Amino acid sequence: MTEHRDNAHPEPGYRLAAKGRYETEDERLDLLEQLFDPTSRQRRGLVQPGWRCLEVGAGRGSMAVWLAQQVGPTGQVVATDIDLRYLNRLNLPNLQVIHHNILEDPLDVLDPGSFDLVCSRLMLFWLAGKQEKALQRMVQCLRPGGWLVDEDGDWGTVIPVDSSHPHSAGYNKAWHDGGWWVSRGYDPEFGRKLPVLFERCGLKNIQHEARTEAVRGDTPWAKWWGESLEGIRASERIDGSLTPAREEEYKALITPLSDPTFWFLSALLHGCLGQRLE
Ligand SMILES: C[S@@+](CC[C@H](N)C(=O)[O-])C[C@H]1O[C@@H](n2cnc3c(N)ncnc32)[C@H](O)[C@@H]1O
Repeated sequence: MTEHRDNAHPEPGYRLAAKGRYETEDERLDLLEQLFDPTSRQRRGLVQPGWRCLEVGAGRGSMAVWLAQQVGPTGQVVATDIDLRYLNRLNLPNLQVIHHNILEDPLDVLDPGSFDLVCSRLMLFWLAGKQEKALQRMVQCLRPGGWLVDEDGDWGTVIPVDSSHPHSAGYNKAWHDGGWWVSRGYDPEFGRKLPVLFERCGLKNIQHEARTEAVRGDTPWAKWWGESLEGIRASERIDGSLTPAREEEYKALITPLSDPTFWFLSALLHGCLGQRLE
């Protein structure tokens, strides 16, 4: 993989913040939920009625709502995020919404040691270099015997299937086999490291699996991916890191996504499960 970190770029962090683009991000997260929820429900399938669950970085909240339905009136779900714009729309008697940064805010507001299940989806990737800290804090929220579920991507694995397609050469040049992420300070193979991080955080009974599929341009997955890249581009325009060279790269990466003859691999999306025993 080519490493070509651009030192002009600011520290990595969450690049798809909703502030200033609430409507656009609402649509992107809605599509994310439609695409990912079926698999995420399976991965959270161990949830039982009466359980107390925590969804960290809950976004628009579809998984928190689903968990609230599963735990029923005798259970409780806490959904956290650093921006509650979308979660504040939810109104369920067994769902509590809390403004909370998993890296920085005190854990006592979440009642550490009390949760049967703690989950997070597509958040850790963005906390580059601080993922283990975030996971440690999630583990602290679990009761002994409780389970942690995290889902995250190898977002560097979005690559053309057919190298002879007219879009492929330009795409591959811009993508650098995922080095596009490295230049921004992110790990393009983050998702596959989840089991290792889980183990380092003391979790046992670790189970892991990952899925991908070949998809084509002009499909819901392609639309979602294009909207995600557009969101990152918008953040770079604001922080001044959107150079003309980067503009060219975005063009090479986004244009093929509306072409139905362009087949590519969706990102390898990992699901990892682990248990806190004591
Ligand atoms: C890609 S979105 C995914 C939303 C949701 N997990 C889902 O999959 O539908 C990532 C979410 O993590 C939140 N987030 C980012 N950094 C966070 C942090 N340090 N603590 C808590 N939430 C965070 C963002 O505000 C955003 O809602």
